Amino acid sequence: MTHQFIDLVLISNVTLKANPTDLMEFKSSAVVTCSVSSGSSLYFLWLNSSSEVTGSDRVQITDGNSTLTIVNVTRYDQGPFRCLVINPLSNSTSAPVNFTINYGPDNMALTVNGQNTTSFFVGSNLTLLCSAQSGPEARLQWAFRGETLNTTGPLLELLSVSEKQSGSYSCLASNHRTNVNRNITTNIMVAKSPLSGSEQLRVHVGLLSLLLLVGVLSSLSGKL
Ligand SMILES: *[C@@H]1O[C@H](CO)[C@@H](O)[C@H](O)[C@H]1NC(C)=O
Ligand SMILES: *[C@@H]1O[C@H](CO)[C@@H](O)[C@H](O)[C@H]1NC(C)=O
Ligand SMILES: *[C@@H]1O[C@H](CO)[C@@H](O)[C@H](O)[C@H]1NC(C)=O
Ligand SMILES: *[C@@H]1O[C@H](CO)[C@@H](O)[C@H](O)[C@H]1NC(C)=O
Ligand SMILES: *[C@@H]1O[C@H](CO)[C@@H](O)[C@H](O)[C@H]1NC(C)=O
Ligand SMILES: *[C@@H]1O[C@H](CO)[C@@H](O)[C@H](O)[C@H]1NC(C)=O
Ligand SMILES: *[C@@H]1O[C@H](CO)[C@@H](O)[C@H](O)[C@H]1NC(C)=O
Ligand SMILES: *[C@@H]1O[C@H](CO)[C@@H](O)[C@H](O)[C@H]1NC(C)=O
Ligand SMILES: *[C@@H]1O[C@H](CO)[C@@H](O)[C@H](O)[C@H]1NC(C)=O
Ligand SMILES: *[C@@H]1O[C@H](CO)[C@@H](O)[C@H](O)[C@H]1NC(C)=O
Repeated sequence: MTHQFIDLVLISNVTLKANPTDLMEFKSSAVVTCSVSSGSSLYFLWLNSSSEVTGSDRVQITDGNSTLTIVNVTRYDQGPFRCLVINPLSNSTSAPVNFTINYGPDNMALTVNGQNTTSFFVGSNLTLLCSAQSGPEARLQWAFRGETLNTTGPLLELLSVSEKQSGSYSCLASNHRTNVNRNITTNIMVAKSPLSGSEQLRVHVGLLSLLLLVGVLSSLSGKL
């Protein structure tokens, strides 16, 4: 063995320390330190899942690369993070550390029968589906014309709707860890089917005459 390796010590017991691991998105910073029970001439590498962590504005690697600091964590920073320690004799990887990042609710969406359309005929069955990005999962509560309904969870089912069920439907999302509440509202219009009654027909005839009038007017203005 060459002279320069005489003082080398095998790496053992690579340990990560992170406190706390329960964090708030955009508020908390994560600090993880990597240590060994024995080893010399150490070189530290950080892994985020299987990719190497590189420094940035947000991500600082300090103390001879043995400390990882993530400023203002995001929901994508849950890890698992591991530390890989290398010297010319050996290498060893730590157990992973995961972070629980509390975030949201945000990016809400509401569909009715899987679509964005909001006009339906009397007698239709409607399934309203609400979603929100949230950690932990948001509590979802439904409201109709501003009054909370006795329905929680992502689905609101309305069977054989009538005209008086037209109006604003809201999904209220709340996250008990972030204390953030958000909502999304859609206005549903329930109308008589075109096949039921002469009322709808009169509307159509009225619309047709209006279109004809517009046509005549624009052809007149074309001649001027
Ligand atoms: C490994 O390191 C940790 C923290 O330094 C220590 O608590 C533990 O006793 C060590 N285990 C062994 C087997 O050396
Ligand atoms: C820390 O990591 C950087 C980037 O990988 C490397 O260039 C540098 O030599 C390392 N420093 C130490 C003390 O290991
Ligand atoms: C972290 O968030 C705080 C508050 O939102 C902000 O003032 C600060 O500039 C942020 N730091 C970084 C490094 O993004
Ligand atoms: C960890 O990996 C995730 C997914 O690739 C990425 O979005 C996130 O920014 C990474 N975080 C750090 C601190 O490297
Ligand atoms: C770690 O050591 C093993 C042998 O124990 C070797 O096969 C591997 O290439 C080494 N990895 C690194 C990153 O040095
Ligand atoms: C960390 O998360 C990974 C997947 O993201 C999972 O497989 C692993 O069990 C978790 N580890 C701990 C200690 O919670
Ligand atoms: C509904 O609208 C949202 C936003 O306008 C869009 O992202 C989504 O793809 C639409 N969904 C359908 C089923 O059309
Ligand atoms: C609405 O749902 C009920 C019960 O599930 C079903 O009997 C009925 O045929 C459905 N009506 C329409 C228009 O799909
Ligand atoms: C709401 O649901 C609960 C439990 O399912 C029931 O006890 C209560 O009477 C309902 N309230 C209304 C106004 O329907
Ligand atoms: C819904 O959100 C708006 C702001 O986006 C807020 O003004 C309103 O009070 C919220 N409604 C409910 C019922 O929480």
